[in-house]
Amino acid sequence: MPVLSWLSKSLVFPEPAPLITDSIVYPAGAGYVSAVQPLPATAGSLFLGDNLAVMMALLPEYEGKINLIYADPPFFTNRRFAARVGRGEDSRKPHEWQLADGYTDHWEDIEAYLDFLYPRLKIMHRLLAETGALYLHLDWHADAYARLLLDEIFGPARLLNEIIWCYHGPSPIRSAFNRKHDTILVYTKSEEYTFNVDDVRIPYDINTVKTFAASPKAGFGKTPDLERGKVPEDWWYFPVVARLHKERTGYPTQKPEALLERIVRASSNVGDWVADFFCGSGTAPLVASRLGRRFIGCDRIFRAVHTARARLVQQGGTTPFLIQQAQSPGTPSAFSEAPRFLLGQDVVRLASDTTTLDYWEVDPAWDGKIFRSAAQAARPLNSQPIASEVRLPANSEISSVCIRCVTVAGEQMQVTL
Ligand SMILES: C[S@@+](CC[C@H](N)C(=O)[O-])C[C@H]1O[C@@H](n2cnc3c(N)ncnc32)[C@H](O)[C@@H]1O
Repeated sequence: MPVLSWLSKSLVFPEPAPLITDSIVYPAGAGYVSAVQPLPATAGSLFLGDNLAVMMALLPEYEGKINLIYADPPFFTNRRFAARVGRGEDSRKPHEWQLADGYTDHWEDIEAYLDFLYPRLKIMHRLLAETGALYLHLDWHADAYARLLLDEIFGPARLLNEIIWCYHGPSPIRSAFNRKHDTILVYTKSEEYTFNVDDVRIPYDINTVKTFAASPKAGFGKTPDLERGKVPEDWWYFPVVARLHKERTGYPTQKPEALLERIVRASSNVGDWVADFFCGSGTAPLVASRLGRRFIGCDRIFRAVHTARARLVQQGGTTPFLIQQAQSPGTPSAFSEAPRFLLGQDVVRLASDTTTLDYWEVDPAWDGKIFRSAAQAARPLNSQPIASEVRLPANSEISSVCIRCVTVAGEQMQVTL
């Protein structure tokens, strides 16, 4: 079997990250309990930190247990992606966009990139359940290399699909065809794998329906079940999350929820574990949570974990989830001008300008250890102002009220009332 080799190829694994539970988030206060007691059952966790060290830390508990891994790593584009703040900017006037730190996809060479990818794919393989699948999302920059790595790790016979995701969009290219597809390599851990074909059927093409209506013999003896729909092909069309797209968070290279929905429905069941160790804005954890799966999300950028958390709070399920950190949380940075909050009867009000705030949350009985987020306000995706008041759950014991805030620029601050 051909195997990809490069000079620095080796498998060196770091020490497992010491994981610290930073906060437990009760979306809109659902199920909130203030007393210090064992943490409740959660829908999942978001981890802030390098995913290799995080995965090493998860191995003892999760080896062979994760049913689906979606991996959308940097593509080896050698670009730096900024986050965009707000919506609807003019794509012809980049100098007018309001930008914030995003993530980098910058490598010395392909060897450095493969040194990064190879051990991570190896650990993902260990984490997968026997019936599990890995969906590795890349494009023309590195998909051919990755396929050889996956053949080596999973075995070439475990390639289930090479999915082509097609989309439209502007491009400056004039000397080649526009590069408008990504490649998703799907490998299963074993021959026995989850594939819920009836959960991902789509309507037949209108021309097929017309043909069979006109001539039932058109299929040479095979009549498709037009009501039930067809199994999708291995090429998919979903629009990209562009500037006016209603899902857009501003986090760079955000993937559409419809793409993740098809993957999660096909390759996992309710209650299963779905992991995304390059979660960015949290599309996979959000979709997994909505579809009743448990989730693990990880990213090394604070903005990513913050965006994923805000999306889960606004649009995910109601089960609490954890934010865990692979390094000490440290002291949140101070803003130049601290927002002011007022405590009322079961409510907390923001008494300053709301325009720069992206998110704020309240722990009504902060114990100085794990932040129990009992109420949250997140800036709506349509750029409307953030709510200036949140209601505390009815059973809140109010003692040391602590508020954590994040600005649109990504600054963090903590205020105690
Ligand atoms: C292509 S983006 C993922 C986008 C995501 N699928 C979404 O829908 O928003 C890749 C992400 O991988 C993260 N990343 C890169 N290297 C990482 C590492 N070593 N550990 C954790 N996250 C990493 C980046 O910060 C970035 O957010």
